[in-house]
Amino acid sequence: MTSSSPSERVEIDVEVNGRRRTVAVDARDTLADHLRNDQKLTGIKLGCEHGVCGACTILMDGAAVRSCLTLAAQGNGRSIRTVEDLSDGAALSPLQEAFKKHHALQCGFCTAGFLLSATELLDANPSPTRDEVVEALSGNLCRCTGYQTIVEAVLDAAGQIGN
Ligand code: FES
Ligand code: FES
Repeated sequence: MTSSSPSERVEIDVEVNGRRRTVAVDARDTLADHLRNDQKLTGIKLGCEHGVCGACTILMDGAAVRSCLTLAAQGNGRSIRTVEDLSDGAALSPLQEAFKKHHALQCGFCTAGFLLSATELLDANPSPTRDEVVEALSGNLCRCTGYQTIVEAVLDAAGQIGN
């Protein structure tokens, strides 16, 4: 990472959804703002902007992180995945299909965050128990579903992925 001006712009080299680019970001920008505003990845949602709700969750080097609490500059040298990378064109991933099948979303505001937290879990543990799913999703809030259908969807997807 190199300073590009004496003030507040920094250059970062970051891979986003498989595409590596060098971009200039404001040193004060959050990763959420950079990805949403500069890279137009608006699947990332901003709820609390204080690290509480999980709506802004992305994967950074495979780990679920809150993009509202991460500076864009911290993306330097990292590999980032957002919800836009889960599907293959119009073809939903098994996890997304399971969310659809189980009606695991209503307004959908929280969904990207849940999908990425669940992706982190299933990448590390393809056959989680119900308790492990609940624990993995405990940092994501949903105001609509009551969580049951989300847990069912992740367990169903685990079955599909594991088979
Ligand atoms: S918007 Fe980032 S945790 Fe709520
Ligand atoms: S589906 Fe509305 S907040 Fe989760």
